[in-house]
Amino acid sequence: MTAPADIIEKVKYLREKITDADYRYYVLADPDIDDYSYDMMLKELDDIEKKYPAMISDDSPTQRVSGMPTRIFRTVKHKVPMLSLSNSYNFNELIEFDNRINNILSESNEKNYEYICEFKFDGLAVSLVYENGKLKTAATRGDGSEGDDVTQNIKTIRSIPLSVRHKDLKNFEIRGEVFFRKEDFIKVNEEQELKGEKIFANARNTAAGTLKLKDSRIVASRQLNFFSYYFYTDEIKIESHLHSIDLLQELKFPVNKFFKKAADIKEVKAFCDETERMRDSLPYEIDGVVVKVNSFSQQEILGTVSRSPRWAIAYKFKAKETETKIESIVCQVGRTGTITPVANLKPVLLSGSTISRATLHNFDEIKRKDIREGDFVKIEKGGDVIPKVLEVIIKKRGRNSKPYLIPSKCPVCGSSLKKPEDEVYYYCPNYYCDAQIKGRIEHFVQRNAMNIEGLGESIIDIFLNKGFLKNYSDIYALVKKKAELLRLDRFGEKSVDNIIAAIEESRNRPFDKVLFALGIRHVGERTAKILADNFGSIENIVSADEERILQVNEIGPKIAESISLFMKDKKNLELIEKLKKAGLKFESGENTIKENINITNKTFVLTGTLEKYKREEAQKIIEDFGGKVSSSVSKKTDFVLAGEEAGSKQQKAVDLGVKIISESDFEKMIKG
Ligand code: IVH
Repeated sequence: MTAPADIIEKVKYLREKITDADYRYYVLADPDIDDYSYDMMLKELDDIEKKYPAMISDDSPTQRVSGMPTRIFRTVKHKVPMLSLSNSYNFNELIEFDNRINNILSESNEKNYEYICEFKFDGLAVSLVYENGKLKTAATRGDGSEGDDVTQNIKTIRSIPLSVRHKDLKNFEIRGEVFFRKEDFIKVNEEQELKGEKIFANARNTAAGTLKLKDSRIVASRQLNFFSYYFYTDEIKIESHLHSIDLLQELKFPVNKFFKKAADIKEVKAFCDETERMRDSLPYEIDGVVVKVNSFSQQEILGTVSRSPRWAIAYKFKAKETETKIESIVCQVGRTGTITPVANLKPVLLSGSTISRATLHNFDEIKRKDIREGDFVKIEKGGDVIPKVLEVIIKKRGRNSKPYLIPSKCPVCGSSLKKPEDEVYYYCPNYYCDAQIKGRIEHFVQRNAMNIEGLGESIIDIFLNKGFLKNYSDIYALVKKKAELLRLDRFGEKSVDNIIAAIEESRNRPFDKVLFALGIRHVGERTAKILADNFGSIENIVSADEERILQVNEIGPKIAESISLFMKDKKNLELIEKLKKAGLKFESGENTIKENINITNKTFVLTGTLEKYKREEAQKIIEDFGGKVSSSVSKKTDFVLAGEEAGSKQQKAVDLGVKIISESDFEKMIKG
């Protein structure tokens, strides 16, 4: 079916609007339309393309996520090899680099030259080839001469234009770095945790792994990012690196704003020092500075040696990896009884801080790396992660070294340790183990939970020793014990008053914080918020069975099981009662679920346009009644609510035998 002229116009209009919205949001960080309008435009375009499949083109914004997960990666030969950079680690090496350049250029009578300094992004390099203004292929660096075709996955990065409009430039190649922003990497791991899947240790490796995923829908669900730093074309003459940066910006590619022109190597050093100082405050990881000779004709004179250009160098920041000795391995007992082995290290300086401990994660990890007491090891400290042991330096191992033995008893209370079959962790099963008691209280008072300032680790220790605290519910009884607290050494009137005021104030913390503070295994801040929003009160959570909890979006089986176990335990119910009496909030106030037998616990899919409700209004009604809205129809769907011009979802419902309801059926359901 060929599309009528007005539809062709509409498609053109929508594609332009969406592309422009992507540019404003992802490149300029200055959006001019709201998310809802954006989604509606994308949906309208998608609907038209479904109706007129002949109109779909590779550069349509709808093609950023493909539904076909089975592609095998082709290899792509790079037109110009993707080189690597030689490294320098101190200012002397930068001066040597500058001297070499000075010598070579002055032989050609080039006395004046300048540098461009850029961040060295800690991601992976990709090449994007555009033909006729459209993104044709995207490839990884690979071995420098050929890499993997990752076009489909690159298209999910919304800051990368799928097509460009320029009067002279239609065929060119862009290179740049794909990486995760720190917050997006944390989100990836939160998602992994929710799904009960493995946690990634390193953002760079995860970005590389993500680009190689076979299913671009998973890639799209993780927010990869991109900065461009290279432009090549035969269509016009480019004078310098600065000129190429200008062109990249003109073509609307994302370029990092922190680059600097330096007149000499001293200015380069100043940029390197300043960058190293601000490094930790950046929203993404960088591992150094890249220094490039600006002029392309001078770059040509300088040329390339052994796969690295002579006109550029990487100035690498101080190593975040070093070597030290494991003095002993001890076991820590967490608030839920989990045993974590920790290495006590001979203290070493690493990226500005002294490291004397490193986590060994679990006993499997110790066994896999064969880590032993007395070993010399390489340790690493990433941005904001706890130091970890990378590997043992076997050459330095002593003759009498013996493999590490997993302890059979809890180091704190002596109970026999347990290990569930399908998990890697060992647990101390004793709920009253001192370490667990202390851990629970520390978790409860922390800033993101009840935020009771002044109840730090050492004060909790004192209160535990004096028998003032046996669990976190005892904290609220402290406010009536001022006289007893004043009798303790080191506690003056003012400090006791401050602690009491902080405890009193914490009674106002909202329900989701209280829920998080309870310390239910696998329930982090985000899950607590989801639970609070979905159930509205602790009664609703206690009375919900595991099945019901599992129906909540984003809550997986492991979390649901853990919540259900917690809420069935008499000890915990008593704790909750005590906290309620102390005046803590156990309901959200708003969002309390209204029961409705037609809707509660049922899964809906919305399709087409409703007359009386906007889509998000209908969704809110369903969620307020404790139902779930899902985006695709499956056997698990209970109802498909179909409005005007319902499309493929309605057909799928017919195919799967899922009940289809109209807007008026829905209204009857709401009324019960
Ligand atoms: S220029 C020959 N600029 O560093 C010049 N590279 O060791 C090659 N990198 O594979 C690239 N930030 O992944 C350039 N601002 C930047 C960079 C950068 C990070 C990476 C890139 C490359 C590696 C070279």
